[in-house]
Amino acid sequence: MAPFEQKALFLQSKQGAFSLGTKPVPSPKAGELLVKVEAAGLNPLDWKVQKWGVFVENYPALLGLDLSGTVEEVGEGVTGLRRATRCRCPCASTARCYLLKETCNSVSPGNYTHENGAFQQYALIIAAFTAKLPSSVSLDEAATLPACVATAALALYDTPNPTAPGGIGLTAPWDGGRGKYAGKPILVFGGASSVGQYVIQFAKLSGFSPIITTASPSSEALLKSLGATHVVNRKLPPADIKFAISSFITSPLELIYDAISISDTQQVAYDLLA
Ligand SMILES: NC(=O)c1ccc[n+]([C@@H]2O[C@H](COP(=O)([O-])OP(=O)(O)OC[C@H]3O[C@@H](n4cnc5c(N)ncnc54)[C@H](OP(=O)(O)O)[C@@H]3O)[C@@H](O)[C@H]2O)c1
Repeated sequence: MAPFEQKALFLQSKQGAFSLGTKPVPSPKAGELLVKVEAAGLNPLDWKVQKWGVFVENYPALLGLDLSGTVEEVGEGVTGLRRATRCRCPCASTARCYLLKETCNSVSPGNYTHENGAFQQYALIIAAFTAKLPSSVSLDEAATLPACVATAALALYDTPNPTAPGGIGLTAPWDGGRGKYAGKPILVFGGASSVGQYVIQFAKLSGFSPIITTASPSSEALLKSLGATHVVNRKLPPADIKFAISSFITSPLELIYDAISISDTQQVAYDLLA
């Protein structure tokens, strides 16, 4: 049984310092799980909140978007998950944003709550967004998955939506789209980023070829093992990056995933699509 009180890491004030405190362990409501946090990812949004003071207005704040752990208590109406199940989950505030995305401005941690963040010993999680882990995936590995995989998958496969976050509506591999895009090139800026690595793997499942990416040369072997066919040195000047990419493309380039999104990568992307 979970204890009544737990340790938690609080961001005390906007752009302030993190410090350890204590807080009550919450109880799961209908559709929720209480998960014992075994590993937490350090998502870029977590450090951006602390460094830049964005998204969060109420302090002290309890951050942490990505976690893995074991189910401690199961809320009413939850089926298929029981105590001690190893699982990975996006924190519940992210999950709520996915559920409410018609009314949510973006999939953001803007509604982090003290019950949901990963930076505590026990967090409340929405069961519908929780996945059981196979024994081949460690809890540390699993904590890197939730938001990164969703960011890669939603952009590629979610339905286009002009008024809210949406994707480009490719047919997902799990919906019959496996191999569907064979012969079509894709370019991934930032293949070595966490998001970029998942985009490469989805691109491979979807059949794209060639799969061209930009990264440091030290990441080339890893990215080729994930499915990249060509790795362009990201540290070259933008004009040289554009030239190198163009030399690998034999049919029109219609799809670019920019996992870095700085002015240099965006400009090269626009030039290549023009
Ligand atoms: N992680 C998420 O769940 C998530 C969700 C939504 C949005 N985002 C946003 O997506 C972006 C990437 O996040 P991430 O978590 O995937 O980042 P990350 O894992 O921290 O990626 C950092 C890596 O990106 C590569 N990189 C940096 N600058 C680059 C450039 N100019 N061109 C190509 N590669 C470059 C570098 O690898 P090499 O030196 O090996 O090339 C670097 O080590 C961030 O802006 C983040 O806020 C992330």
